[in-house]
Amino acid sequence: MKILGIETSCDETAASVVEDGHKILSNVVVSQIDIFAEYGGVIPEVAARSHLEVIMPVVEKALKDANCTWEDIDAIAVTHAPGLLGSLLIGTLTARTLAILHEKPLYAVHHLKSHVYANWLNEEKTSSASPAFPLLALVISGGHTQILYMSAHNEFKIIGTTHDDAVGECFDKVAKILGLPYPGGPSIAKVALEGNPDKYRLPHPRVENLDFSFSGLKTAVLRAVQKELGLPISHPSHDLKNHLSREQVADFAASFQKTAIEILTEKLSMALEEYPDVQSVVVAGGVSANKALREALPEAYFPEPKFSGDNGAMVAAACFYEIQSGVKPVDPYKLNIYPRISIES
Ligand code: KG4
Ligand code: ZN
Repeated sequence: MKILGIETSCDETAASVVEDGHKILSNVVVSQIDIFAEYGGVIPEVAARSHLEVIMPVVEKALKDANCTWEDIDAIAVTHAPGLLGSLLIGTLTARTLAILHEKPLYAVHHLKSHVYANWLNEEKTSSASPAFPLLALVISGGHTQILYMSAHNEFKIIGTTHDDAVGECFDKVAKILGLPYPGGPSIAKVALEGNPDKYRLPHPRVENLDFSFSGLKTAVLRAVQKELGLPISHPSHDLKNHLSREQVADFAASFQKTAIEILTEKLSMALEEYPDVQSVVVAGGVSANKALREALPEAYFPEPKFSGDNGAMVAAACFYEIQSGVKPVDPYKLNIYPRISIES
């Protein structure tokens, strides 16, 4: 079964053809990073406009790279939630139109489900290559930080979530304080290689149960930078970068990254204690590209780094397993978008 997956929830326009939920026939991603590096973050209206400009060429290239015509495509899958309203609209309107035009069944996929299913994208569908159930999924992206318990395919229960910022958002905000380019995750990871992770001690938030909080860690970095520079807490955060040496930036990046990883791995260990029946752990979302995190969790499944960030292949993979679980297609004339809906609904 060949599924065309379309993803436009944030700032990547992506389409991919995937066979039987795991075999990648094509994968086209047009990133808007270059545009938003200039602004230091995503501007929703600009993102939507950029999606509109490239979505059709991206879909056509995905079909061409896969050596497919519309005849070969069995279904279309599209991200309908959660994400930026304008961005989601472009992807879903495109998918709806294509489904009507080419008479294909249309499936609506939740973005976090797609991220999790990036862990099933592999050439060989051997049993050791696929995670076993029940499993824990640590979903860490720019918009979400959650621990999910999956009893079987397409069965998700949220057992931990952030009370405020997502961990990827925290990487992005700390990078801004340190004067590192957007997106902050890869910039911090790169600079951290030269830094001393034990130079600055940053606090772990005191959050009950399996939940997270990352806004305090961002503020802790801000205060530590001000203290290091001997500046008052009233000193504007956007100016601090002008006073930091390259060595200080590297040490702050390394110390922050180490603390963020400790917070994530500690909660994961707690979750594993609470759910002793768990057979495997999968990590997903943009932050799962982080190399130091991969090294800290050698037993966990991670997607290939290029499938950690947003892409269409993971949407097609998630759709395949939804179909296997009995999920029905949606009406292409009626499909709605939900910018903030939970994976459980
Ligand atoms: O999943 P994603 O591409 O988009 C959302 O659904 O949010 O995640 C983007 C997030 C950004 O916050 C980015 O800074 C972070 O993932 N990220 C990383 C790395 N690569 C991307 N964070 C830490 N280390 C990385 N190597
Ligand atoms: Zn994402």
